[in-house]
Amino acid sequence: MSHSILVATCVLLVTITFIDAIVTNNEFVSCMTNFVLPFANTSRYVFTEDMPMYSSLVLSQHNPRCSNSTLSQKPLGIVMPQNEYEIRAAILCSQKHGLQVRVRSGGHDYEGLSYLCKTSFVVIDMSNLRSISVDIHDETAWVQSGATLGELYYSIAQESHTHGFPAGICPSVGVGGHFSGGGFGAMVRKYGLAADNVVDAYLVDAKGRFLDREAMGEDLFWAIRGGGGSSFGVIVSWKIKLVRVPPTVTVFNVHKNMDHHTNEIIHHWQNVAYKMRNELFIRLVIQYIHDNKTTPVQALFNSLFLGELKDLLPLMNESFPQLGLKPTDCMEMSWIESVLYFAGLEKSPKLLLGNKTDPYVSYFKAKSDFVTKPIPKQVFVDIQEKFLQQKLVFMIMDPYGGRMSEISDAHLPFPHRRGTLYNIQYLVKWEVNGIRASNKHIHWLRELYKYMKPYVSKHPRHAYLNYRDLDLGTNNQGNMSYSEAIVWGEKYFKRNFKRLARVKSMIDPDNFFRNEQSIPLHQN
Ligand code: FDA
Repeated sequence: MSHSILVATCVLLVTITFIDAIVTNNEFVSCMTNFVLPFANTSRYVFTEDMPMYSSLVLSQHNPRCSNSTLSQKPLGIVMPQNEYEIRAAILCSQKHGLQVRVRSGGHDYEGLSYLCKTSFVVIDMSNLRSISVDIHDETAWVQSGATLGELYYSIAQESHTHGFPAGICPSVGVGGHFSGGGFGAMVRKYGLAADNVVDAYLVDAKGRFLDREAMGEDLFWAIRGGGGSSFGVIVSWKIKLVRVPPTVTVFNVHKNMDHHTNEIIHHWQNVAYKMRNELFIRLVIQYIHDNKTTPVQALFNSLFLGELKDLLPLMNESFPQLGLKPTDCMEMSWIESVLYFAGLEKSPKLLLGNKTDPYVSYFKAKSDFVTKPIPKQVFVDIQEKFLQQKLVFMIMDPYGGRMSEISDAHLPFPHRRGTLYNIQYLVKWEVNGIRASNKHIHWLRELYKYMKPYVSKHPRHAYLNYRDLDLGTNNQGNMSYSEAIVWGEKYFKRNFKRLARVKSMIDPDNFFRNEQSIPLHQN
């Protein structure tokens, strides 16, 4: 960004003062108009309650449970910026009128923190900022936060069949939230997190400044790669390092009914999945399947191998023969086809475009854990019993090791690296709306989580920010002190929480960017 833009930003700032006032739609809109271009038509990108599009934009469809939330104020406006100047205007006008902001990219936040708030607020929705530019020669890409992972994967595959990017499995997830919370998928063992492969970023801070990596400095650049973007500013775009993938990869899905034999296989999986070759990722999903099978609880071994079948089979025979993998279980394909396969989509890469890739829309609640020692076999017997009582439940276990073990816990805010065997996501879904139904299912999940306590990481029990869980604690709308917030902060970030709070104090000393789990200011 040019020096003259920075200077212009600073001049504009002089006119801004913080006031706490009850503000009308019109006041906010006219502030936006004055900031951007006095003659520009704001109805192109600012939507208030009196406008027809407003209601369809208010709530995200990804987890309707959140619309039952107590955080149920409606936003005064939804700003859908088309450039960084409109983001800056939204930030500065919100400050001027005493409003909070919520930033939404893909809208998948598990607790709806990107579009819900208890007090007067504005949503900055990044959906219009979704361009992707791939430079295959340089093996990099710039991707705007409003793009989805599916769009990113598609754009890379359009340019090259031997490049990819190691981010999450669900194509409808937004780049903005995903990268800023860490982000992992089927290449995590080979290439680490999405955030590990970010090399630059472009952000608008609370003062309305436009900052790239050089201008923001290494502390802030560190913080936004895993510490959650919403505490620090609005990230407009990210520069990523693409990774190399072979022209042919191999995938398999092996289903097993949960029984004594499968329990043995799971036991072996726990002991080998994290130390197999980095090219091999075998995730384990325990789930309740809706059909007439005698054993409705099943274990699914779902795998991506960055190589051909002829190389996979000897590897499996040597290190994980208990699974009994057969060539007929496997399929060879291109990396982009494997993305579709993992997402449960047909073999057409165009399906990765747009927001229509989400087959998972339902009421849900999730929690997470990290496992550092194999869990005793009896626990999986008990889990099967518990799943039979609940249905529509999933325990998704992603193996770490490989590249993840080579990166230090302090390298980025995401600290769950060496010594982690795998991550668990517990997920319960339901289809009936209503507080009573929600409470029943959430209660069940909390009981399962309680039951798992002795078998997972301890002191504190760790969790993954991108599987956000307000049960871990909230900071009272961003008003909690550092020493109080440490209770949940260290669960997500271990010792990195302190550095995050220091960066927060430096970049946003007035704590403008805050929410129920934002990073607090540091106390000396
Ligand atoms: P959303 O827009 O709701 O943002 C999430 C958080 O980031 C909010 O706090 C928001 O304010 C903030 N934020 C968003 N954009 C920002 C920006 N531009 N600047 C600053 N702050 C910003 N995770 C994973 O690691 N691997 C996986 O495979 C999956 N799979 C998956 C599937 C499904 C169906 C869901 C619902 C979720 C996942 N996730 C996941 C979790 C996912 O990574 C997590 O929910 C991300 O935060 C979602 O990012 P979005 O941009 O979609 O959400």
